[in-house]
Amino acid sequence: MSTLITGIAELRTQDDDLATLRGAALVVDGDRVAWVGSAARAPAADSRVDVGGRAVLPGWVDSHTHLLFAGDRTAEFAARMAGEPYTAGGIATTVAATRAATDDELRANLRRHVAEALAQGTTCLETKTGYGLTVDDEVRLARLAAEQVDEVTYLGAHLVPPGADAGAYAALAAGDMLAAVAPHVRWADVFCETGAFDESRSRAVLTAAAARGLGLRVHGNQLGRGPGVRLAVELGAASVDHCTHLAPADVDALAGSTTVATLLPACDLSTRQPLPDARALLDAGAAVALATNCNPGSSYTSSMAFCVATAVLQMRMTVDEAITAATRTPARSLNRQDVGHLAAGARADIHVLDAPSATHLAYRPGVPLTHSVWRRGTRVIPP
Ligand code: NIG
Repeated sequence: MSTLITGIAELRTQDDDLATLRGAALVVDGDRVAWVGSAARAPAADSRVDVGGRAVLPGWVDSHTHLLFAGDRTAEFAARMAGEPYTAGGIATTVAATRAATDDELRANLRRHVAEALAQGTTCLETKTGYGLTVDDEVRLARLAAEQVDEVTYLGAHLVPPGADAGAYAALAAGDMLAAVAPHVRWADVFCETGAFDESRSRAVLTAAAARGLGLRVHGNQLGRGPGVRLAVELGAASVDHCTHLAPADVDALAGSTTVATLLPACDLSTRQPLPDARALLDAGAAVALATNCNPGSSYTSSMAFCVATAVLQMRMTVDEAITAATRTPARSLNRQDVGHLAAGARADIHVLDAPSATHLAYRPGVPLTHSVWRRGTRVIPP
């Protein structure tokens, strides 16, 4: 069953040349994009949808979230807005609530957040374990995540659980816990930060994960300058996330590497950190992605559009750069060729904006601009 999509005011395929096409049309066949080109030369299809002069782009790829959780941290957020600092220790609150939740409660919570993201145009999601922190709980979270999201990341090294010995816990995270979780995930991540895991413990977990064939991601340089970015680049991580506090040497290291710098502006705003220097990274030649970091502690939003608008309005990224950073580059950071662009052969994940151009994402910040969403060739929004 094929569908011809016409009436596209602006088509951003995010293909190799990052072109913005006008007068274009697109054919979806099954779960794939079958054809992209001038509407005047469009091939016949079984059905036709006219999107009425709206902009079309790939679905967002949100490459950093923590959606397997229970509980609420509104009080912690309110205290922060009243001047308290964000610390890694708040993670323990969510760990306790998550351990106490049933599988079905966690499933329902995840389903709600995935649906919320989809309704805003996010068609590919990564999520992490990290609120379990026992072997059984981390395996449970990985299994539950794999039921509903595209990419799952092991984050046993998120926090040393209260009362645990840091060295012994890091050895567990690099040993038996990793061994138990690895069959259920493609990625491993470490929170390399003061108050979480230091450089040598982070390195131990990451090298053990790489030895098991997992791709690497790192939470680095979130709360201050530190070794996270350098370590990620040295180990060939696919992504280092946060990058809020970068030394010039970190920018140079990222620019000379294949590691994507994934910026999480909603988190920086919600934790009253400065916004990352996206301009320095881009001007140096580093690959930059944007993600929500949706989690109940430091960044409780699923809105990629908010991140894109913030990147343009506050981080001096162009609209083109921000859209690429929310589609094609996070796909690359997840080693996915099938999502984040709309060339023939790509997964038919299509985001139609209720606007004639994608510039409206920054021009009309805060306005819900998702008109319709297709995922794997099926229109899912509106259902
Ligand atoms: O990316 N930095 C570590 N992990 C999350 C925070 C999770 C939490 O506070 O619950 C983050 O910000």
